[in-house]
Amino acid sequence: MGTRSYLYSFLSHDIMLTEQLEQDAVLRSDIQPFVERETAKLISLLIRVTHAEKVLELGTGIGYSTIWLGGAVKEVGGGGKLITIDNHERTGQEAKDNIEKAGLSEFVDQRFGDAEQVVPELAETESGTYDMIFQDCGKYLYPLLYEDLYRLLKPGGLLITDDTLFLVNTTIRKGLGKYIDTYNKQLFSDTRYYSTMLPVGHGFAVSMKVPQEVTL
Ligand SMILES: C[S@@+](CC[C@H](N)C(=O)[O-])C[C@H]1O[C@@H](n2cnc3c(N)ncnc32)[C@H](O)[C@@H]1O
Repeated sequence: MGTRSYLYSFLSHDIMLTEQLEQDAVLRSDIQPFVERETAKLISLLIRVTHAEKVLELGTGIGYSTIWLGGAVKEVGGGGKLITIDNHERTGQEAKDNIEKAGLSEFVDQRFGDAEQVVPELAETESGTYDMIFQDCGKYLYPLLYEDLYRLLKPGGLLITDDTLFLVNTTIRKGLGKYIDTYNKQLFSDTRYYSTMLPVGHGFAVSMKVPQEVTL
């Protein structure tokens, strides 16, 4: 048995639809990759541990990660919402159907639009209100949206970033690595965050927005 099969023999699905989506994805070339199951489960765990009620996801895809995160927000129970943004209409419709099938429509606010436009607008109106942000949209946007995401987070809130090892992961399109590298340098030199990076999935960073009165 390989590492992945062994690992996955322990990582059960919270909502069975995500298992079906994983199986379907193996045969599909018309969708972008999802987060790995261990990544999705780790974010779901962090939502539970921190009792995150207002969560922002950038990059809905067909709703795989959205279902994991939305299920966790539902579980936390504070009447919270996962706001998820993507600019792809076809996969967005598929995500909408999947979110409905998972019984999570009440907990997910799905928005269509270009994150480069939508996120700065959100930062104007909802600054300091998000408990958690999951960054998984176009890699070129990671450095561009950096300051807006900082503004959106509450002090003590978590910024979670997927794909942070793209530059050094040889199976990934090399062209995207330069954006990630710029972003990692921004994030890990920024004392306004307390950050770590783990070799989970294609690289996973978790960063806490340090409350201003605290020095770590
Ligand atoms: C890696 S996929 C997201 C996968 C999803 N988080 C999951 O794990 O199931 C990246 C997504 O970012 C979206 N995206 C790329 N550029 C975008 C932009 N400028 N604005 C909004 N979404 C964008 C793509 O349409 C794609 O669905």
